[in-house]
Amino acid sequence: MTARRVTLIPGDGIGPEITEAVLRVLDAVGAAIEWDEQLAGVAALERTGSPLPEATVESFRRSGVALKGPLTTPVGTGFRSVNVALRREFDLYANVRPAKTILHGGRFEDVDIVLVRENTEGLYIGFEATIPVGDDPRAVAQSNAVVTRRGCERIARFAFEYALQHGRRKVTICHKANILKAVSGLFLETARNVAREYEGRVDVNDVIIDAAAMKLVLDPTQFDVIVTTNMFGDILSDEIAGLVGGLGLAPGANVGEGAALFEAVHGSAPDIAGKGVANPSAMLLAACMLLDHLSQSAAADRVRGALEATLLDVEARTPDLKGNATTTEFTDALLGRLG
Ligand code: NAI
Ligand code: MG
Repeated sequence: MTARRVTLIPGDGIGPEITEAVLRVLDAVGAAIEWDEQLAGVAALERTGSPLPEATVESFRRSGVALKGPLTTPVGTGFRSVNVALRREFDLYANVRPAKTILHGGRFEDVDIVLVRENTEGLYIGFEATIPVGDDPRAVAQSNAVVTRRGCERIARFAFEYALQHGRRKVTICHKANILKAVSGLFLETARNVAREYEGRVDVNDVIIDAAAMKLVLDPTQFDVIVTTNMFGDILSDEIAGLVGGLGLAPGANVGEGAALFEAVHGSAPDIAGKGVANPSAMLLAACMLLDHLSQSAAADRVRGALEATLLDVEARTPDLKGNATTTEFTDALLGRLG
């Protein structure tokens, strides 16, 4: 198999530690990938003066596929999110976040949910302003959510197509159309219209977002594929990650027409960065999604199998899963189970 060029962004915080683990594992399964390593985030800012250097954008433009570690975004002030910039630059409109029970004996068994989040519109476009009143320069803050019929249509269609292709039975549309009658109303109306095209092939229902949040923790098995707008999807995806053992186990893909970027759902974890105890599983699962995307599913299945076996071993687990192993020890244990 000829190696496929893939842009690799190790990222900030725990990013380089978990990236190293992922590279060792993918190397061991003989993934046909030629990595093109690039900088982004704080690491890039420090070395090049820009959080998203042109060379990184160019590499991704050429490869069309990227594996990315987490990137630190300053809170409140400082540079805007590079993650958001990449999603927008490459129009990576669909964020696919699967959550499946691997760690048995937790709060829930048999969770198997795929969240499809709109990635380019809504409140997260950052159309914001502060308005001065008297001598307070930031007395009032406002934010505009923008949603388009085209944006709603393509994310809804993506979710239904995903359901069809992956043998899923139901898509749940999550919204807040009762309050946000314009932005969420347009999303609900458009998604329901798209659902009609799939009648008899994929079931559909819709749930108001706050009720969905509650239903997820009462009985997650009632959900299959969920489709929702940007901010609701951001929040729900962390919640569903929590249902299956936390952020250390949650991968995601950002997909557009011509490009796909794979990453863990979690961030750069500054509280544990540099300590060598980060759980590489989420980024490994993201790398498996990448292998699937490159039609290298045999390699992906080997990694997933070894990962599941390793996670069953309490001794091999990292501290976020109540174990004592370091990132390297966990990775060594996984490599030993590759078979
Ligand atoms: P976070 O996901 O980095 O951390 C939340 C908690 O989960 C922390 O206690 C952390 O130690 C733990 N955690 C996360 N990943 C872990 C792993 N692999 N192994 C073990 N423990 C793990 O979220 P936080 O603290 O809100 O954000 C930190 C930074 O990351 C911020 O600058 C944020 O903007 C950025 N971020 C970047 C993302 C991306 O690049 N896609 C996504 C989310 C946040
Ligand atoms: Mg998030």
